[in-house]
Amino acid sequence: MFRRLIGVVVVTVLLTFQLVVGSATAVELDEATRTVKLNEQGDTVTLSLKQVKEGKRLFQYACAQCHVGGVTKTNQKRWTLNQKPWR
Ligand code: HEC
Repeated sequence: MFRRLIGVVVVTVLLTFQLVVGSATAVELDEATRTVKLNEQGDTVTLSLKQVKEGKRLFQYACAQCHVGGVTKTNQKRWTLNQKPWR
């Protein structure tokens, strides 16, 4: 009985946490935040929440190993400070 109760409590806490985290991303990015410059003429475009989510996924996949939390990790083995990875 007691063990079962512990299980129910753990599941409840986990599900609640997931709910809070899930809604936080949607609330954080209002329309003004999602509006970015489109070109040099000064046109702008407002990204949908779906596009933002996909962008985050792609960034996580392709860029986060070196750029995480807004910084550039220059201590990666493949690059020294005076190298440009894209050349
Ligand atoms: C293998 C490591 C690595 C990966 C992966 C990587 N970068 Fe970088 N990136 C660097 C390094 C190192 C610099 C700094 C180069 C310099 O200052 O000469 C840099 C610089 C930049 C800059 C220039 C801004 C600045 O801080 O100087 C931008 C923008 C950027 N990266 C975006 C991206 C994006 C977007 C991706 C994913 C598509 C990505 N990078 C993937 C290593 C990486």
